[in-house]
Amino acid sequence: MAVAMNLWRGTTKTSRAKLPAPRLKLSFLILCICASLVPVIYVQYHKISYFLRPLWDTPPKPFHVIPHYYAEGLSTPELCKIHGWTPRETPLRVFDAVIFSNEVDLLEIRMRELMPIVTKFLVLESNATFTGQRKSLIFKQHKETRFKFIHSQLLHFFLPSRPFIPNEDPFINECYQRDAMIGALILAGIEDGDLLITADVDEIPSAHTINLLQNCDGYPPIMHLQLRNYLYSFEFLVDNNSWRSNVEIFYKNSTKYEHIRKTDYLLADAGWHCSFCFRHIRDFVFKMQAYSHADRVRYASFLDPKRIQNLICKGSDLFDMLPEEYTFQELISKMGSIARSFSGVHLPKYLLENIEAYKYLLPGNCRREPDPVRSFSYGGLQ
Ligand SMILES: *[C@@H]1O[C@H](CO)[C@@H](O)[C@H](O)[C@H]1NC(C)=O
Ligand SMILES: *[C@@H]1O[C@H](CO)[C@@H](O)[C@H](O)[C@H]1NC(C)=O
Ligand SMILES: *[C@@H]1O[C@H](CO)[C@@H](O)[C@H](O)[C@H]1NC(C)=O
Repeated sequence: MAVAMNLWRGTTKTSRAKLPAPRLKLSFLILCICASLVPVIYVQYHKISYFLRPLWDTPPKPFHVIPHYYAEGLSTPELCKIHGWTPRETPLRVFDAVIFSNEVDLLEIRMRELMPIVTKFLVLESNATFTGQRKSLIFKQHKETRFKFIHSQLLHFFLPSRPFIPNEDPFINECYQRDAMIGALILAGIEDGDLLITADVDEIPSAHTINLLQNCDGYPPIMHLQLRNYLYSFEFLVDNNSWRSNVEIFYKNSTKYEHIRKTDYLLADAGWHCSFCFRHIRDFVFKMQAYSHADRVRYASFLDPKRIQNLICKGSDLFDMLPEEYTFQELISKMGSIARSFSGVHLPKYLLENIEAYKYLLPGNCRREPDPVRSFSYGGLQ
């Protein structure tokens, strides 16, 4: 025992005496690796935290999904019955209300899709973005030309910006604009019992979906719409899980124009959500700076037009972020670029009637047109 102890001590002594240089080297190496990891962690902080989301975040409560049936040629009363609902004698009045930023093309596609069904379209436009920067009134600039076709159904509201407060949370401006929408709806003549669509411009319910809800009774009074989620164009189908838009029976005493989870009901396959579906690169640059997640622009290089064009063609993320997923399986399956889709089946009708004018939204056409020379200005942002 004693011998063993001595031996052990002996070896320790000799190792201490003989091996200082490699040990120092090793510690130095570890120190270097750690030091070089600091900037990597700093730079990739977003990615790392998103990658670990399944560990730190709990998934939202699952939706109660309402099956949705549709085939060409079925009458609306037949469709009501398939859903277990009853046909209505008089169709509901429908109000479609959007807060407009710069999505001119998608707004036209949306209005043409819903024009035969919607009673009044409300477009609310402010002279400031959600991030509080000055913005010119882009809808107003197009109102007498491109949007002349919809004048009899259109109400356009101008909402003056709130005083600019530096570094204010963009969600405060967003709430201010959403609150103003209820006032606009009352001015537009909405009554208890009318059907209200609450959605962003780029969340487009399909005409047959709204037609069904307008002509049936018996569904939940508030439902979210499950939309197919596209990015940049209808070439990149991300998933089918867009859920924020909703339709509801309007009541003055309780309805809020909010783009958040309002209910557990989700009507399946009800339309399209096309994010960042813009004709010109400058529209991407504008939107990246203007929307409520503008903090995702972590480097000025993110706004470089060449970089943006390359990412659009690859179907990769503009902000170099990982998808928001709650299981590693989903996360890993969605990492990297989005798979290309070659399907143009079941897209908004007006888009397919005008494929030349909207080519950039269709599969195989990721190159954007050169920015026009000042057909309109964005105001404060470029
Ligand atoms: C928006 O318009 C209002 C009134 O027309 C004006 O008082 C305000 O300063 C404008 N906001 C910006 C950011 O230009
Ligand atoms: C979305 O739904 C459509 C139709 O049900 C299906 O063909 C497609 O594979 C789905 N796509 C994804 C990414 O889940
Ligand atoms: C709101 O009004 C409707 C009909 O007028 C009524 O049925 C409902 O109970 C009211 N809701 C609240 C929260 O007061």
